Amino acid sequence: MCGIVGYIGKREASPFLIEGLSKLEYRGYDSAGIAVINNGELKVSKCKGRLANLEDRIKNDPVKGTLGIGHTRWATHGEPSDVNSHPHTNTNGTISVVHNGIIENYLSIKEWLIKKGYEFYTETDTEVIPNLVDYYYKGDILEAVMKAVSKMEGSYAIGVVTTEEPDKLVAVRKDSPLIVGLGQDEYYIASDIPAVLNHTRDVYFLNDKEFVLLTREGVKILSQDGEEIKKEVYHVTWNADAAEKGGYEHFMLKEIHEQPKALRDTMTSRIIPGKPIQLDDITITSEQIKNIKRIYIIACGTAYHAGVVGKYAIEKLARIPVEIEVASEFRYRDPIIDESTLLIAVSQSGETADTLAALRLAKQKGARVIAITNVVGSSISREADDVLYTWAGPEIAVASTKAYTTQLIAMYIIALFFAQNKGTLSNEEIEEIKREMLTLPEKTEEVLKTKDVVQKFASKNYMHKDMFFLGRGLDYAVAMEGSLKLKEISYIHSEAYAAGELKHGTIALIEPGTAVIALATQEDIYDKMVSNIREVTTRGAKVLGFAFEGHTEIEKTVDLARYIPKTLPILAPVLSVVPLQLLAYYMATIKGCDVDKPRNLAKSVTVE
Ligand code: M6R
Repeated sequence: MCGIVGYIGKREASPFLIEGLSKLEYRGYDSAGIAVINNGELKVSKCKGRLANLEDRIKNDPVKGTLGIGHTRWATHGEPSDVNSHPHTNTNGTISVVHNGIIENYLSIKEWLIKKGYEFYTETDTEVIPNLVDYYYKGDILEAVMKAVSKMEGSYAIGVVTTEEPDKLVAVRKDSPLIVGLGQDEYYIASDIPAVLNHTRDVYFLNDKEFVLLTREGVKILSQDGEEIKKEVYHVTWNADAAEKGGYEHFMLKEIHEQPKALRDTMTSRIIPGKPIQLDDITITSEQIKNIKRIYIIACGTAYHAGVVGKYAIEKLARIPVEIEVASEFRYRDPIIDESTLLIAVSQSGETADTLAALRLAKQKGARVIAITNVVGSSISREADDVLYTWAGPEIAVASTKAYTTQLIAMYIIALFFAQNKGTLSNEEIEEIKREMLTLPEKTEEVLKTKDVVQKFASKNYMHKDMFFLGRGLDYAVAMEGSLKLKEISYIHSEAYAAGELKHGTIALIEPGTAVIALATQEDIYDKMVSNIREVTTRGAKVLGFAFEGHTEIEKTVDLARYIPKTLPILAPVLSVVPLQLLAYYMATIKGCDVDKPRNLAKSVTVE
């Protein structure tokens, strides 16, 4: 996690560094800092807490100069504190470094450097980098960084400046994202595009172990062997406004409301009535699809929950066995993978370390990989064989909302595409699902109109310490996502449970007044779900239930019933998750939580 930025040009660096960091604050926000070089002197300003603290500090004690680097932190090594904040500096105070990632062998490097006379003041892994660069520095900062990096194991995106060469900024990445922004006589580095978007739309995406030397004259990209690399400029077409709050109080609320558009955009040109599904970005052939014996869907967090729905959809529509697994477990359990395996890696950011590692493992063992991601040029998109982009636009709030619903759409598209190629569904059946999918944006708009009811429920229940989310089948998959949303931003403990499993132990936790959210959209098991709800209401639970319009039976068992527009049961998750997102949002805001930046979290998890 963490966000890094850097600037070299003719203007003052610090306004850009602060602005860039504010766009990256979603990546980590427990401390921030900048380092700027001016007249051969390095000035570092850094402190614990949100970026606003750093801004105050800089207002009182300005940091001048036209070359600088900046960092917003999500602590991994050492508590959030002024001293552990980045940038970190070598013992002599001539080299400064910002780093996103983890240097796994930092302890052995540190011991080695201490023996050479270097001193350390922080608990961070990063502090070894400026000292190691210093050790190798013989008048050429690029060469020194290259040598230092060759000794480092782990993941990193780093930016380095030195007082010895005040006209150079050096950066490199491995397993952590980094882009280069190309301005007019000024150049930038950043962990993500929004940081530079107010200044340039032309960027380079760096690959692992590519070094970049930025001067006021231009940018040079080099391989680890020092060979110059020619890169294509990527021109960003989306609008900077997409990453602004646009009148909403929080990014999360804005992103919840953007879902109808995001769903439409993700289906555009892929789902067209009367036409076979055409996926321009997917090269897998019909023959290869027919030869798939097993699919693994691998992801983390919310993306994992989208994968649970994907399993149901692919198995039901395309009749291929699917296993869904959390990436951090999958990669360490020696899974059975061969050429007949397809791995679908799902990741909003396209940078999640565990998902990326699982993808690499699968490729190494001969599997084909399809990525579902929202970020063009992300590591996962570049390493997969095929990519199906979700066109959700930038998602800034830490809690994922529009990424989830568009990932569901991507899952349905893949399931239908496979079904079409394998002939497991008739054309009429495929057309019916497509027709229904195209109604989802409008139906989502309908669901969004019921937010007052959810808000009212939240205002009556925000004081609960625990909550339960119940469902069966696809409703259970959505219950998991609703529960994660609630925990993540409101800090209310909650559990999602397969409603039929409750009586095997967990029902012991239900007592008079326990708050329960029950989902009952799956028609074939509706009656069973209604019975499960009765099991908890009998024991005093207060239940808010969701079902399709017209399925009023639920009213006999719940305290409050709400209806969502009718659709095919397999598509229900796209609609039924929306009130749960709103519920988490209102619970959190009523409790006064920082919705967009919940404690202990970061948006992009680039450490394992
Ligand atoms: O970028 P990714 O989709 O790979 O991120 C995976 C999870 O870290 C992410 O979904 C996380 O669980 C969200 N904060 C949930 O709202």
